[in-house]
Formats: sequence, structure tokens, C-alpha cells
Amino acid sequence: MNLLGVSGSLRAASLNTALLRAAQNLAPEGVTITPFSLRDLPFFDQDLEDEGDPPAVVAWKEAIRAADGLVIACPEYNGGITGVLKNAVDWASRGKPAPLAGKLCCLFGASPGITGTVRAQDALRLSLRRAGARTEPQGDVLVGQAHLKIVDGVLTDERTIEGLRRHLAGFVEAVRG
Ligand SMILES: Cc1cc2nc3c(=O)[nH]c(=O)nc-3n(C[C@H](O)[C@H](O)[C@H](O)COP(=O)(O)O)c2cc1C
Repeated sequence: MNLLGVSGSLRAASLNTALLRAAQNLAPEGVTITPFSLRDLPFFDQDLEDEGDPPAVVAWKEAIRAADGLVIACPEYNGGITGVLKNAVDWASRGKPAPLAGKLCCLFGASPGITGTVRAQDALRLSLRRAGARTEPQGDVLVGQAHLKIVDGVLTDERTIEGLRRHLAGFVEAVRG
């Protein structure tokens, strides 16, 4: 099974990208999570789209289409999702069929605050569903106080590690149907 891994943060020391790296190591046997950087995606612009998708958008859409599901590390900015992530969802909601249509998505997120991106993940679910994607049936993975649980880019908190492992296992079962 090949899953596509996406982080909604571009910064090198991102807690969410670190969580995605941890997920890559915690995926069940036989499951690969291949990371895709959103850095090169231009801002969505319908004029650009009308001229033909730019190469970075073509790559993004093809990566989604080729994947069995998406694994998304979702940071929270001002109670919502990052512009980077919303922009990526908007591009992937376009086309017939839209690349996101029918795709199952696994969400988790990390923040230094105690609520651990719950608002952003709720907002992301809404946007994904509007785009025709499906979100996983299992509960949330909300990593609050993440700066204490991710040290030098490595997830060290045992409870979070186990929670993420279970979350991924449940998601993989859902993808297998
Ligand atoms: C513009 C901005 C807005 C933020 N708003 C929130 C917020 O609403 N809730 C929250 O928990 N953290 C918020 N934060 C703190 C982020 O959770 C924190 O910077 C986190 O490390 C970002 O994710 P990253 O480490 O993956 O880059 C905000 C940070 C920025 C830069």
C-alpha cells in the first residue's frame, strides 16, 4: 500500500513535518508513506488553471491519483488550517474527476498549545469533504504541547507514539476496506 504524506508546514523545524516523519516509521508492515512537499505549489489562480496546470500542480495531482490514501500532518494557524494546506486542497479539488474525489485521508496534527490543532483538523475535514475526499473513521490524534514531545525533530513521547501507531493501523484497515 502506498500512501502520500503531506505536511501543512514548510519550515525546516516543523513539529508537524516531524510527526509525519514519525508516521513514516510507525506505518504497518507493507505500507509506505511517501512525503510530498507543498513548497512549489503556486497560489491557486483560476487564470493559471485555464492556461493548463503548472508543473508543480500536475505533480501534486498525479501523486494523489497514484496514492491509495493521504496522510496529512495539519498545523493550526489562527484557529484554522495553514494557507499552504488550504491552497493544496483547492488545487486538488479541481478536475474531472477531482484528484481528491473518493480518497481516504488520515489526519493528525501538532502544536505547542494544549488543544493540539483540533480546530484546524475540523476545518480540514470540512474542506476535504467538500472536495469529495473521505476522512478516516477513527478518532483524532491531537498532539498538544508538542514541543515537549518532539525533540530535535524526533517524536519521543511514548503515549503519542503508540497513539499514532494505532491511528495509522486503523486508517490502513479503512483503506483496505
Ligand atoms: C500565524 C500563526 C498562527 C498560529 N495560530 C495558532 C492557533 O490558532 N492554534 C495553535 O494551537 N497554534 C497556533 N500557532 C502556533 C503553531 O501551532 C506553532 O507555530 C506550530 O509549531 C506550527 O506548526 P509547525 O511546527 O509544524 O510549523 C500559530 C502560529 C503562527 C505562525
